Amino acid sequence: MQKKKEIDLNQILNNLTMKEKIGQLLQIAPFYFIRNIDVEIFGWLRELNLNEEKIFNAGSVLGIGSAKDMIEVQTKYLSKSRHKIPLIFMADIIHGYKTIFPVPIALASSFNEELVTLSARLSAEEASTAGIHVTFSPMADLSRDPRWGRVVEGFGEDPVLSSRMAAAMVKGYIGEGIDKEYTLTPCVKHFAGYGACDGGRDYNTVNISNVDLFNMHLKPYKSALDAGSRLIMAAFNTLNGIPCTVNSFLLKNILRDKWQSDAVTISDYDGSKQVIAHGVAKDTEEVAYKAIKSGLDIEMQSTTYSSHLETLIDNGLVDVKLLDEAVYRVLKLKKDIGIFDNPFKGAVLDDSKIVLTEDKLLRSKQIAHESLVMLKNDGVLPLKKDCKIALIGPYADSRNIIGPWSWHGKRDLHESLYEVLLNHVIFMKTEEDICKYSDSDIDIIKKADVILFALGESDWLSGEAHSRTDINLPNNQAKLLEIANISKLKSVVLLFNGRPLTLNNIQKADSIIECWFLGSKSSEAIKDVIFGNINPSGKLPISFPRNVGQIPIYYNHLNTGRPLTKNGNNEYVSKYLDSPNEPLYPFGYGLSYSNFEYKDMKLSKTKMKLNDVLVAQVEVVNNSKYNGKETVQLYIKDHFAEISRPVMELIAFKKIQVEAYQRAIVKFKISINDLMYFDSLGNKKYDLGKFSVMIGTSSVEYLVKEFELVE
Ligand code: NOJ
Repeated sequence: MQKKKEIDLNQILNNLTMKEKIGQLLQIAPFYFIRNIDVEIFGWLRELNLNEEKIFNAGSVLGIGSAKDMIEVQTKYLSKSRHKIPLIFMADIIHGYKTIFPVPIALASSFNEELVTLSARLSAEEASTAGIHVTFSPMADLSRDPRWGRVVEGFGEDPVLSSRMAAAMVKGYIGEGIDKEYTLTPCVKHFAGYGACDGGRDYNTVNISNVDLFNMHLKPYKSALDAGSRLIMAAFNTLNGIPCTVNSFLLKNILRDKWQSDAVTISDYDGSKQVIAHGVAKDTEEVAYKAIKSGLDIEMQSTTYSSHLETLIDNGLVDVKLLDEAVYRVLKLKKDIGIFDNPFKGAVLDDSKIVLTEDKLLRSKQIAHESLVMLKNDGVLPLKKDCKIALIGPYADSRNIIGPWSWHGKRDLHESLYEVLLNHVIFMKTEEDICKYSDSDIDIIKKADVILFALGESDWLSGEAHSRTDINLPNNQAKLLEIANISKLKSVVLLFNGRPLTLNNIQKADSIIECWFLGSKSSEAIKDVIFGNINPSGKLPISFPRNVGQIPIYYNHLNTGRPLTKNGNNEYVSKYLDSPNEPLYPFGYGLSYSNFEYKDMKLSKTKMKLNDVLVAQVEVVNNSKYNGKETVQLYIKDHFAEISRPVMELIAFKKIQVEAYQRAIVKFKISINDLMYFDSLGNKKYDLGKFSVMIGTSSVEYLVKEFELVE
């Protein structure tokens, strides 16, 4: 084994000039190191005012893609840099490197932390071979607005589910420790509240009350940090008026003081310069001043520090201590990752034994199996083994279904649905427009047993800067369902999309499956499920609204003073005149081929003392011939408190396997911690009195018992 170097970070820090220190806080793209800056750098990139000296003092690189590039950049850098402190390489590995796994919203639908950890572990194994050390993942922003394109990158609307998923992902990236080979160091993002942008429009204003911030939005970031995320990225948006990049409430009061975290903070892409557009600094000098004082360590692709920090310190406006602390955190990260020992850590020129291996592809399929969600099934699925299929719609023969943020995943490498269903398909057409289907098409379609409609949004309709105001299926695709009517056949809709869609106009389908984007093995995973080789078990991590007017929509809302009730006078109550309040498909919902019945719910006590552990249990019976997996969900309601509390909140879930006609007893332990919440000052509180416990198959179907919390 190679002997580790003795590294004294304080000594390294003390040997650096001010410029060299400031360089450690600069992150730039790889091409700066290998191109001729005077000749080959154009446009706004020139405005960064970079020169040889600044470039070869930089501390980290954004977006390296291969071992060859990494080795080239690192070698050139080390040959020119005085202290030879290696560059750290960061990139967006979001749901896989070359083997692509389901997108995060799909992973969340699995409600299976082991699978999420596995997907991150395998992503890390592959991506580390490109010499990537840090991934800008997980995205822990809660999404309550499906118009927002980045819903696809997160884990949905619930703080507990998102927290558990974010932690599971972090665990997977890290593996046995960030100093080991085949690992990635996670950078949780986007701190904070990025998903709550007004109107679902990306980068837009975010206003969140302290109560919501502490009880909902902040939890998943904290969970990722607790699980070992060593970096945290500031969001682009303002939070309650202050851009997150210079938001000392977030970066200092919450992160450092309250959470006691020493994670490296990093801006989002050019986030610091955008503080000027936000109107919170008049020029880049003021940005640098505010950013360093607010606790921002690394600037991604902005140069306000390298342009101004030295002068600000020389003029006594900024204490050099702030710079030293930030640089120390960066150096410590480099040391802990192990790049002082091996600057080329990870990089493997021939990655063929590690990437896209059969085993990884098989794992990707297994993860995909649990990530799709069956929304409707009127007896048509599973299909018979000799079933004849008419396959219709824009995704019928598309290989481009691995999902957004798959920059190294080849979009033409893996089979389309048509390719995997070839032996069954007697008709296939990808036209979105019903007028393109002729009478002779219909004559052939009629010979099939079932029509599969492969519908959805292309992957570029979701993701960063891809918000939509209309979240119906695009291009009138829903009209295609008329073909089922005309040909008098049963129909199954397979949906490919990165956000909840409004699905009222496909309700005539006999079955609907939300496939999201399932990665490299999408098509095979879907085939396994529709033929019943795999029993679907995914549940929705986010509500599917009936219409855009219901947004924002989430299950853990407050009751209001005038709630809509089932049997009351519902005139002057909190409702819409033209739409129900409830979503079309609620949080936690998802069907199985099994028929799970919940019975005999019990609480171990009706009065719980503060130190007690209350056990809630339920029997889950699989009344069907199918072995199946079920996510048993535990919600609570705190009836009377100092602040209005949600109508229900998920506090725990367990995914269990129940064989055909068998039963399982599921137990949950509830302690005072599960009943506590934050007040508006961020203090943890509990209230004595009445609580309800709901255990069920979704946020709308459950059994209820009550207990009282007593002194
Ligand atoms: C901007 C995105 O908001 C962020 O999620 C990503 O990590 C960075 N760009 C780097 O690519």
